[in-house]
Amino acid sequence: MKLWGGRFTKETNQLVNNFNASISFDQKFFRQDIQGSIAHAAMLGETGIITKNESLEIQNGLKSILADIESGRLEITDEYEDIHTFMEATLIERIGEVGKKLHTGRSRNDQVALDMRLFTRDEVKNVDAELKELMAVILRIMKENTETYMPGFTHLQKAQPVTVAHHFGAYFEMFKRDRGRLSDIYKRMNYCPLGSGALAGTTYPLDRELTASLLGFYGPTLNSMDSVSDRDYLIEFLSALSTIMMHLSRFSEEICIWNSNEYKFIELDDAYSTGSSIMPQKKNPDIAELVRGKTGRVYGALMSILTTMKGIPLAYNKDMQEDKELSFDAFDTVKGCISLFKGMIDTMSFNAQRMEDSAKHGFTNATDAADYLVKKGVAFRDAHGIVGQLVLHCISKGIALDDMTLAEYKEISPVFEEDIYDAISLKTCVETRLTLGAPGPEMMNKVIAVCDKYMQENQII
Ligand code: ARG
Repeated sequence: MKLWGGRFTKETNQLVNNFNASISFDQKFFRQDIQGSIAHAAMLGETGIITKNESLEIQNGLKSILADIESGRLEITDEYEDIHTFMEATLIERIGEVGKKLHTGRSRNDQVALDMRLFTRDEVKNVDAELKELMAVILRIMKENTETYMPGFTHLQKAQPVTVAHHFGAYFEMFKRDRGRLSDIYKRMNYCPLGSGALAGTTYPLDRELTASLLGFYGPTLNSMDSVSDRDYLIEFLSALSTIMMHLSRFSEEICIWNSNEYKFIELDDAYSTGSSIMPQKKNPDIAELVRGKTGRVYGALMSILTTMKGIPLAYNKDMQEDKELSFDAFDTVKGCISLFKGMIDTMSFNAQRMEDSAKHGFTNATDAADYLVKKGVAFRDAHGIVGQLVLHCISKGIALDDMTLAEYKEISPVFEEDIYDAISLKTCVETRLTLGAPGPEMMNKVIAVCDKYMQENQII
């Protein structure tokens, strides 16, 4: 069955049918399609465009279709062009002539615009919920590791000592921004396109405020041409998803490095690692690698829709049907990645001793040695030069700054005293980093309290 056979004198070529059809993928939003149709039918009844009885018959018919699809009694088959056609045909089959009135004052253009928006709106909430769960695990790890020392890196070279809490806190901030983006998108997208018709509204006295409120929108959109051809919210969401994946991918890269034989900072749980078919000793971080890998796929969805949209004149054009498959794939990919990543870090263990030993080597306390001199009155630039000489001396002897004798120190600068050892100990280096946002445990605990409070708030309203 077609919704548009009237003005045609020939059957459509079968290949054209296949090429044109979207039901194999747009059936994914059958719930949203029914939800939108129920609201439309209710409004048609309220406004007297159809009778109250007709409206009720249509709504009940739609509800029975929903129940039957959900229970598996009714199958969505590929013989229809799209989910909208399937629904209308099934409704007419079930309730007869009155079903033909559902599409009064509506076009598939505003219908698909609504369905996609409803589906995406749900997914924005779903991704937000997944992120919140991931952040709860990160926060738990932060709380337990405010005094687990590790080297902080720049250029992947040991730089200054930090803690596991501090390092994970960086990701907490990233995901917090991601959730902020989702909340912004939600607020901007939550307006209802239904009632825009094909592109120019309609001559029926539709109550668009009513359908908007029935569907949980803040209100109706204000330009019918824009409403049927706007996919900005999808682009924004895919962009936010790409940023989430970029964060997860960086985190994954660190997991791979920390899990390597050379680092051994962490140990992944057996349930979250995989083996090799040939090398019996292998325990690979496949989850982290796959998350890193799937990032490209999500970026691809964003690039695809941006490119699809760039040349489309107003208003609806069939190109826009291409908004669905890659978006759906991206939504599922991101949710899956967040959830698996969460399980992986929730079950992994830290090799605290190894991290601490690593932080003690590689001159991560060199800046602190310079700061020691500054506190004794040496200008920072001079102090920097003196400590540079100390480092050179240590490298030639294969020792750490902490291993030098006071005599050796004094040979390079007489300003050094016995208290240098305490000033550059790992504990001092971390504990005295107390600027806001720094790893010192006292400051870290204050930040953790802020994070705790954040976790109690709802971001999307
Ligand atoms: N399957 C179409 C889509 O996904 C639905 C809208 C079709 N409208 C039309 N006039 N052909 O965009």
